[in-house]
Amino acid sequence: MAAGPADQDVGAYPGHARVTPTISEVQRVPFPHPPTALRVALLGCGVVGSQVAHLLLEQEKDLTARVGARLELVGVAVRSIDEPRGVELDDALLTEDAAELVTRADIVVEVIGGLEPARTLQLSAIEHGASVVTANKALLATHGPEIYAAADAAGVDLYFEAAVAGAIPLVRPVRESLAGDRILRILGIVNGTTNYILDAMTTQDLDFDEALRTAQELGYAEADPTADVEGHDAAAKAAILASLAFHTRVTLADVSVEGIRGIDADDVRWAAQTGHVVKLLAIAERVESNGREAISVRVHPALVPAGHPLASVHGAFNAVFVETAAAGPLMFYGQGAGGRPTASAILGDVVSAARHRVHGGKAPSESFYAQLPLLPAAAIRTHYQLRMDVADRPGVLAQVAGAFAERGISIETVRQAPEPVDGVAELLVATHAADEGALAGTLEAISSLSGVLAVTSVLRIEAS
Ligand code: HSE
Repeated sequence: MAAGPADQDVGAYPGHARVTPTISEVQRVPFPHPPTALRVALLGCGVVGSQVAHLLLEQEKDLTARVGARLELVGVAVRSIDEPRGVELDDALLTEDAAELVTRADIVVEVIGGLEPARTLQLSAIEHGASVVTANKALLATHGPEIYAAADAAGVDLYFEAAVAGAIPLVRPVRESLAGDRILRILGIVNGTTNYILDAMTTQDLDFDEALRTAQELGYAEADPTADVEGHDAAAKAAILASLAFHTRVTLADVSVEGIRGIDADDVRWAAQTGHVVKLLAIAERVESNGREAISVRVHPALVPAGHPLASVHGAFNAVFVETAAAGPLMFYGQGAGGRPTASAILGDVVSAARHRVHGGKAPSESFYAQLPLLPAAAIRTHYQLRMDVADRPGVLAQVAGAFAERGISIETVRQAPEPVDGVAELLVATHAADEGALAGTLEAISSLSGVLAVTSVLRIEAS
C-alpha cells in the first residue's frame, strides 16, 4: 500500500535512526493474542458475593461486548456448600476450596472480608497471575502495601472501588481522576449503619438503643454492630482514602477513632436547637504544623451545620466531600452498602481489570512518594461544643470562662437552658478553633470547678 502524507511524516530525520516510536505507531500495534474468555473466580457468596454472581450471569452479553472477551464465572468459594444463598448457581461452580480456586482464574473477586484467609488468598491469586478485585477495607487498611507490592511484582491489577462507600464511585476519582490535582480535604459520611442510627435519633426521636435495634431489624447493622458503631469500618475507609489522596501510607492504626455509642438523645436535641445535626464523619486533611505540611486522619461524631449538604444525608446513605486546589469542592453521594449497590462497584472493577487483559494496560500502582507526617491527635485543631450541668448561682459562668481563657481557648457562644431544675442549669459552650490538647486540659480544669457538677458531652463542630 502506498504511504500517505501522514505516514511519510512518521519517520526519522534524514540520516538519523529513530529510536522512539511515535504515538500513531504505538496505536497501530495490536495487543498480542487477546484472550476470547477470562476466568473469574468469586471468593464469598453472601449479601454482596451473591449479587456479583447474579450480575455477572445476568449481564453476560453486555459485559462481553464491553470487555471484548467473555467473562466466565469459573468458581464460587463458600464456607459451606450446603448453606442457602441468594443466587441460583450451578452446583458445579461451588467449592469450599478457595485456595485451589484462586490458582485457576484471571480475575479473583474477594468479598469474604476480614484479614485472614483473605490476605493469603489474595496474595496467592496474584502469585498465580490473577488480578484482584476486592471490597475488603480492613485488609487494605492493614496490609495494603504488601498486596500492592505483590500485584506490581506480578504485573496484575489491584482494584477496590467497593471498599469505600459501596456503590459510590469514589476510589477511582481520588486515585485517577484527581491525580493531576492537589486534594486538600476529604470529609464524609462513609458508614451507612451509623448514619441510619443518628438519622433515626434525629428524625424519629429514637434513643440510641432503639435506633440500633431498628437498624438491625432492617439488616443495616450486624448482630455484632461493633465495627460500625465504634467507627472501625469508617476508619478503614478513611485510611484508604487518605493514602490515595495524600500519596502517603496511612494504615488503620494511624486513624484516631471515636464511635457513636456516647451520643445520646440530649446531644441530638441540643444539636437541633443550635442549628446542627450529629453525623459520624471521616476526615482526612492536609494541615500545616510548625511550618511543615502534615495530614490528619480521623473518625468521630461531629456537629454539622443544618445547612451543609452533609446534614441532609439521610438513612443509610453515604456522602463524601472532596476539596481540591484546582477543582474546588466535589460531592459524591449514594448507597454505601447493600448487596446490589456494592456489586455494581465490583463489576466496574472487574470490567476494568478484564479490559486490561484484552487491550493492555494496568491499574495504578501504590503511590506513596509524599509520605507526609501524621499530625498527633493532640495537635488536631477544630471547634468544640461542651455541654455541662452547673450550679445555678453567681460566678459559675465566670469560673468556666476563666478555665477556657487560661488555656488560650476563645469562646464563640454560651447558651443556658431556660429552666434550671433543682438549682442545676444546663450550659452549652461553643469554642473557636482550638487544639485537642488544649481542650483536654480545659476539660480537666472545668471538671474540677466547684460550680460544675458534670461535663455531660463534648462534640467537635466540623464543616462550618
Ligand atoms: N457496614 C458498612 C456500612 C458497609 O454500614 O456502611 C460496609 O462497609
